[in-house]
Amino acid sequence: MPGAPQCCCVPFFFFFLLVWWWPNFCLGGDPYVFFDWTVSYITAAPLGTKQEVIGINGQFPGPILNVTTNWNVVINVKNDLDEPLLLTWNGIQHRKNSWQDGVSGTNCPIPTGWNWTYQFQVKDQIGSFFYFPSQNYQRAAGGYGGIIISNRDVIPLPFLMPDGDITLFIGDWYTKNHKKQRKDIENGKDLGVPDGILINGFGPYHYDAAVVPEGIAYQTINVEPGKTYRLRVHNVGTSTSLNFRIQNHNLLLVETEGSYTVQQNYTNMDIHVGQSYSFLVTMDQNASSDYYIVASPQFVNSSDWDKAKGVGILHYSNSLGPASGPLPDPPNVLDTYFSMNQARSIRWNVSAGAARPNPQGSFKYGEITVTDVYVILNRPAELIDGKWRTTLNGISYLPPATPLKLAQQFNISGVYKLDFPYRLMKRPAKLDTSVINGSYKAFMEIIFQNNDTNVQSYHLDGYAFFVVGMDFGVWTENSRGTYNKWDGVARSTTQVFPGAWTAILVYLDNPGIWNLRSENLNSWYLGLEVYVNVVNPEIDQSEPLLPDNTIYCGLLSSLQKDQAQRVKFSSAASMSGAGRRVLLAFVVISVVCYLFNEVKDV
Ligand SMILES: *[C@@H]1O[C@H](CO)[C@@H](O)[C@H](O)[C@H]1NC(C)=O
Ligand SMILES: *[C@@H]1O[C@H](CO)[C@@H](O)[C@H](O)[C@H]1NC(C)=O
Ligand SMILES: *[C@@H]1O[C@H](CO)[C@@H](O)[C@H](O)[C@H]1NC(C)=O
Ligand SMILES: *[C@@H]1O[C@H](CO)[C@@H](O)[C@H](O)[C@H]1NC(C)=O
Ligand SMILES: *[C@@H]1O[C@H](CO)[C@@H](O)[C@H](O)[C@H]1NC(C)=O
Ligand SMILES: *[C@@H]1O[C@H](CO)[C@@H](O)[C@H](O)[C@H]1NC(C)=O
Ligand SMILES: *[C@@H]1O[C@H](CO)[C@@H](O)[C@H](O)[C@H]1NC(C)=O
Ligand SMILES: *[C@@H]1O[C@H](CO)[C@@H](O)[C@H](O)[C@H]1NC(C)=O
Ligand SMILES: *[C@@H]1O[C@H](CO)[C@@H](O)[C@H](O)[C@H]1NC(C)=O
Repeated sequence: MPGAPQCCCVPFFFFFLLVWWWPNFCLGGDPYVFFDWTVSYITAAPLGTKQEVIGINGQFPGPILNVTTNWNVVINVKNDLDEPLLLTWNGIQHRKNSWQDGVSGTNCPIPTGWNWTYQFQVKDQIGSFFYFPSQNYQRAAGGYGGIIISNRDVIPLPFLMPDGDITLFIGDWYTKNHKKQRKDIENGKDLGVPDGILINGFGPYHYDAAVVPEGIAYQTINVEPGKTYRLRVHNVGTSTSLNFRIQNHNLLLVETEGSYTVQQNYTNMDIHVGQSYSFLVTMDQNASSDYYIVASPQFVNSSDWDKAKGVGILHYSNSLGPASGPLPDPPNVLDTYFSMNQARSIRWNVSAGAARPNPQGSFKYGEITVTDVYVILNRPAELIDGKWRTTLNGISYLPPATPLKLAQQFNISGVYKLDFPYRLMKRPAKLDTSVINGSYKAFMEIIFQNNDTNVQSYHLDGYAFFVVGMDFGVWTENSRGTYNKWDGVARSTTQVFPGAWTAILVYLDNPGIWNLRSENLNSWYLGLEVYVNVVNPEIDQSEPLLPDNTIYCGLLSSLQKDQAQRVKFSSAASMSGAGRRVLLAFVVISVVCYLFNEVKDV
């Protein structure tokens, strides 16, 4: 029903949009955009086998949230799944507003059949991000979609405006549904080789009859010769690091997770789970055929993984025929050294302006004194109290029934402890709700030490952090000598190679309770996460109050009122003649305001 508006409610919808927009528009405030999203199972067969996937308004992947810096986003999310739901916005900083973060530590999940309205401002951000369902292993079934935050007109892009903007989701995929997958994970079973790698929800192009069966739908990207496109590529998979490449085409890296990078050409790029990159790709080939777009697993050495390759098609309008022959080669798939060097080569463009007119590099992170140091070590899953769990510094995160943020707001003690250890302690591993006590405006150094055998990706909500170093072996104080103190890129998701460490610096200027997690779903699901509590000690008026649509659960369940059954998103009211005249007046006034604002900006 949603997604297919009836003709009569369309003008009605615009009417409302204008009523909401108009005051902001004319007074020069930040615009509001409104969306109604219904999250439900839909049937799809990305790898040829029919299965339930999670769609948004019937789409898989979901719609792209395409906004501009400082816009206010209002999304009414209806949960039509058979289990609780929260959407989280990977990389969106929610300045001073962790209430909208959509993770178990900040929000009660939206029960089946209920809706909940997220409202947040994409303050001082630009770049490429994505959203996904954060609970119950649901991302393994889809439910994700892109977020594009464009720069305001007054701040130039550090490159020519591309001729097109294309979002690509790459990720490992299993035909087993997410409920069975999470059961396996709970039972300590390895996920095994994925059944495929999807590109935008599609299976591989039929590049090799021995590997890909007939009749699988694949992704085709249509392009014009000579033009340059911005490709926003996100690894939305479960746990597999992927190498992304396009046959015969350079990938000019320009942005990652909200920071403009030094522009460099790559023939391929390793993209780890949860990471997002923008590349400019120029259609400079002779179109003697179509070209392969490939996303293939890295750091795996069994021939079983051969069938797990994502393959799409880049089709020039003047192409002379289909792509054929072997796929372009990846770098040595086992070479983590190569991959680490590639990661180190990604630099911040310190002179480019991003969301604000001042250059990115005017925040000289290398000159700030570190106040808190955490060395956080993860280990492979182990049995704790008879359950398979993963740990950070020996603690496996135990999500309380009452979200941390609500417990804090209502002064309920005993829900969590601010005692997350600075280092691994010599004590048995345990399950606990232990939170990092972050001080407001502290400059924190976190060293992730990966004692597992696969790559881990760590993501911090609420912030962009500086990736200042990574190396193999065990981190020591001397490792600081190798840090990049000048143009390490600011982003929200970083990889940590097996048997290696990655160091990040983060300025804790965003009050709230923020999730620090592994993006690898299997590790995260078993407890590889922690929260960072950042409180502004000056009576924290800067943080917005509890939203009035808050859902209550756990110790606060008694505050929850029932939600009226079956919310209807689209009003079927039609417009009267008077309504149309009012609408016309709004249109005229808005156009005048728009022109006025344009003149003012010049
Ligand atoms: C995003 O919206 C802008 C207008 O605000 C439009 O020019 C652009 O094409 C849109 N991008 C995508 C990918 O839909
Ligand atoms: C649920 O949707 C209805 C209708 O759109 C809206 O009025 C209501 O505020 C929403 N509820 C919440 C908790 O966001
Ligand atoms: C950095 O950004 C500046 C300013 O937008 C741009 O002119 C320059 O080409 C960029 N430098 C590199 C190396 O990407
Ligand atoms: C990147 O490669 C393209 C050709 O694909 C070339 O035209 C361009 O100059 C290169 N840019 C840089 C910064 O190396
Ligand atoms: C097009 O380019 C390919 C490889 O770059 C080359 O082998 C082929 O001969 C070229 N075809 C034409 C018609 O120029
Ligand atoms: C590759 O295989 C070798 C020997 O079978 C094994 O020791 C090694 O751990 C494997 N590496 C990876 C990354 O799976
Ligand atoms: C929680 O405690 C603070 C002071 O410790 C007080 O100002 C606030 O009103 C309390 N909040 C509630 C909901 O009781
Ligand atoms: C948390 O850190 C602050 C200093 O930033 C300190 O005052 C407070 O006592 C700490 N809380 C706990 C429980 O350690
Ligand atoms: C994990 O730690 C153990 C004990 O310190 C060490 O022997 C092992 O090499 C480490 N493994 C990795 C992958 O870091």
